[in-house]
Amino acid sequence: MSKISLESAKKVAAHRAVDEYVKDNNVIGIGSGSTIVYAVQRLAERVKEENLNVVCVPTSFQARQLIINNHLTLGDLETHPKLDCTIDGADEVDCDLNLIKGGGGCLLQEKIIASCTKTFIVIADYTKNSQRLGEQYKKGLPIEVVPMAYVPIMRKIEDEFGGEVELRMAKAKAGPVVTDNGNFILDWHFPDKETDWPSINQRLLLIPGLLETGLFVKMAQKVFFGMPDGSVKEQV
Ligand code: A5P
Repeated sequence: MSKISLESAKKVAAHRAVDEYVKDNNVIGIGSGSTIVYAVQRLAERVKEENLNVVCVPTSFQARQLIINNHLTLGDLETHPKLDCTIDGADEVDCDLNLIKGGGGCLLQEKIIASCTKTFIVIADYTKNSQRLGEQYKKGLPIEVVPMAYVPIMRKIEDEFGGEVELRMAKAKAGPVVTDNGNFILDWHFPDKETDWPSINQRLLLIPGLLETGLFVKMAQKVFFGMPDGSVKEQV
């Protein structure tokens, strides 16, 4: 059996999600990353072919540009505080449908949009399909923090939970990554034994200055994985 490329795997998952979940007169949350690009392209095709009336709410600057460049209708949470469906990528998905998100640094807006939506659908290629978080994604758990508090937050996480925390540095700029919201991102390399994600998430969110984690605990209703053989695997 021939293997399809990673990009094709992202594409089949994205198309399946858009074909199954986007309906006329829907308000749709648009995630961030590389997989969502295929979903937006498919959505633009469907809107044109089926003359659909769909409003798209972005989860990042990138998503906003995707919506505009694909000539889709742009909305926001002020005009559309309740969304029918959000489609987004993930960095890793475990067997309980917990996600790591924020590899692209957009986790805060992504989680806000996901929390305002009736149905939250994840699209990913097969490399994101794990039994437990941290099994394949080795870059740590992204955490968005207020810049002035980043050092004490790093210390608190390491002291209370173990592992190592690093400040995410920019690639084409001197200094740290600054998010769409003007904040910093920490990547927490959590100890291997961690599994109680609901409790860890709640405890992390109690640290002052820690704005949001990339842990999406039981938020996703369904994940579509594009598989190496070109099929789509569903996880609910
Ligand atoms: C953005 O911050 C992330 O949460 C992305 O949704 C996630 O990293 C998935 O990205 P890819 O689709 O590029 O894998």
